[in-house]
Amino acid sequence: MDQLQELRNRIEQVIQNLSVPSSPKDLYEPISYALSNGGKRMRPILVLIGCKIFNESVENALRPAIGMELFHNFSLIHDDIMDDAPIRRGKPTVHERWNSNVAILSGDAMMIQAYQQLVETRPDAVATIIRIFNQTAIEVCEGQQLDMDFEKRDDVSIDEYLNMIRLKTAVLLAACLKIGATIGGANEEQAQFLYDFGLNTGIAFQLQDDILDVYGESQKVGKQKGGDILLNKKTYLLLKALELTSDSGSVEQWLKSSATEGKVAAVTEIYNANQVRELAEKRMWEFYDIGVSSLEKVQGNAEWVKILLQFCNELMHREN
Ligand code: IPE
Ligand code: IPE
Ligand code: MG
Ligand code: MG
Ligand code: MG
Repeated sequence: MDQLQELRNRIEQVIQNLSVPSSPKDLYEPISYALSNGGKRMRPILVLIGCKIFNESVENALRPAIGMELFHNFSLIHDDIMDDAPIRRGKPTVHERWNSNVAILSGDAMMIQAYQQLVETRPDAVATIIRIFNQTAIEVCEGQQLDMDFEKRDDVSIDEYLNMIRLKTAVLLAACLKIGATIGGANEEQAQFLYDFGLNTGIAFQLQDDILDVYGESQKVGKQKGGDILLNKKTYLLLKALELTSDSGSVEQWLKSSATEGKVAAVTEIYNANQVRELAEKRMWEFYDIGVSSLEKVQGNAEWVKILLQFCNELMHREN
């Protein structure tokens, strides 16, 4: 079996063995529902690879890896309320299947469970890990608020957008690698090189998420197609289209209008006419390449560095 698959299996095993209580039902059922719906499990994989680069054994990283996946899933449950999203991973979102109150509280409980898992590691690494995690979790909240603020603004700059996706998405991926590396015994400098790799490839990852929102096959992506367009989300695609079109007959008209009928198709047409997808992809690969240059400085197990690179490269070509 290939080495990455082995890590994936271990992650699934730990998730399956998590003892989620059965009562109160509406608190815990959504947690099992969210965790059993799959997803790419990128964050725990990154924790384990980060550890593997510096240590043969991942034993001490397994529970923190699950902690990061719990935090991610909590953030998605709340994100879906905020984005009014009906579908995730091809199934109704938690607030659709239950209701928003259930989604809020089960999300909160999931975040606490994330802490419960994070501390199950080498005692001498706990304080460092929690510090990295706390800083990251706050930044994710900042990114999420900026994302919401930007829905109402039409003058968001590309730099503001990049900062927002750095916060809402990239820092978590970066922190996964750093936490894994720290548990594996990396020194601060080496752990930081991995963080920088995660940060830049994480920005590339969110650019790809924005592209898939419009151009992905909804069956594969498992989310509502064009959800970002419907909400006036300031994605790279939209900002570029704004930059390249004039007022009349442009995206600007759609941003001002409350009409939703035909909006996704019309805005996608404007994207196509201005080749903004290609521009976004170009930017995505630029960030990917910046990330790769940090990875070159990592002095650990070369085989696992290679596996990390391959894993991230495959994510850039993903369909969900
Ligand atoms: C979705 O993350 C949210 C973003 C940060 C773009 P993923 O695309 O990793 O979601 P799952 O866990 O694989 O479903
Ligand atoms: C979500 O970004 C980032 C976080 C959950 C922190 P999106 O809103 O683009 O994620 P999706 O597309 O719903 O998965
Ligand atoms: Mg969102
Ligand atoms: Mg969303
Ligand atoms: Mg998205």
